[in-house]
Amino acid sequence: MNGRFSLEGKTLLVTGASSGIGRCVAVECAKMGAKLVINGRNQERLNQTLSILEGVGHQAIAADLSDHEAVSAMVEQLPQLDGVSHNAGVTSIGMIKFIKADDWQALSQTNVFSAIWLTRCLVAKKKLNKPASVVFTSSISGNDSVRHGEALYAATKSALSGFAKAAALDLAPQGIRVNCVHPGMIETELFHSSQDALSQNIDELKKLFPLKRFGAPEDVADGVIYLLSDASLWVTGTELKIDGGYTLI
Ligand SMILES: NC(=O)c1ccc[n+]([C@@H]2O[C@H](COP(=O)([O-])OP(=O)(O)OC[C@H]3O[C@@H](n4cnc5c(N)ncnc54)[C@H](OP(=O)(O)O)[C@@H]3O)[C@@H](O)[C@H]2O)c1
Repeated sequence: MNGRFSLEGKTLLVTGASSGIGRCVAVECAKMGAKLVINGRNQERLNQTLSILEGVGHQAIAADLSDHEAVSAMVEQLPQLDGVSHNAGVTSIGMIKFIKADDWQALSQTNVFSAIWLTRCLVAKKKLNKPASVVFTSSISGNDSVRHGEALYAATKSALSGFAKAAALDLAPQGIRVNCVHPGMIETELFHSSQDALSQNIDELKKLFPLKRFGAPEDVADGVIYLLSDASLWVTGTELKIDGGYTLI
């Protein structure tokens, strides 16, 4: 099925799978033949995702990935993996003068440290097969393009992309590839809560995209599938922009 893009025979962990991009990645990876372990915090929404996955043998593990002990405990329960799509993330919109001292800690714990600790535990516990592929969902806000009010969020995504590059180098000898996708604005709950906070006119914003629409979660899922599949076996340390051309102008 689909040649080198197939995920047949692969076991994958997908985080952030209780909604938005992560849920869509899980659904599309299952369609491509993967067996999945899905993660999120909300058990009910995680079970909803589980109920719509094609195929058999999928599993859900609810865990708060901002808590490093919960990450360690989840990794203990995981089977051997051929890949990871790490989508868990939260947003924060606010002008710099309103940043509070503990805001960075709260945001970076989910958006950055969860990725670092998850990778560390997967490697230390030898849970990643050789070869394996780890894909982090970063953002164009990290390295490419920011909007007013995104300072903290952008800083976490830059940190995540930086970590991914260093991890790609460190883990290459073990046959583990590490890449990022950098989505632009994708219509999910997180996107709509950011728009509400920024009070931006959605129709005006849409016109800024050369391809004249916001992204759909499926647009990101297709990029993630490529990076998880054998079609990208010689790709590591890269950042795949999926933004409808937004960062061209
Ligand atoms: N939407 C966009 O326009 C856009 C653009 C660029 C990048 N991104 C990135 O894409 C990723 C997914 O975003 P989305 O738009 O799909 O957002 P979303 O619909 O709000 O989904 C976020 C997911 O992350 C999970 N999550 C959050 N904190 C967690 C924690 N501490 N532990 C475990 N899971 C946690 C949530 O699980 P629960 O709800 O179960 O807690 C949920 O499944 C994020 O990393 C985001 O930064 C999004």
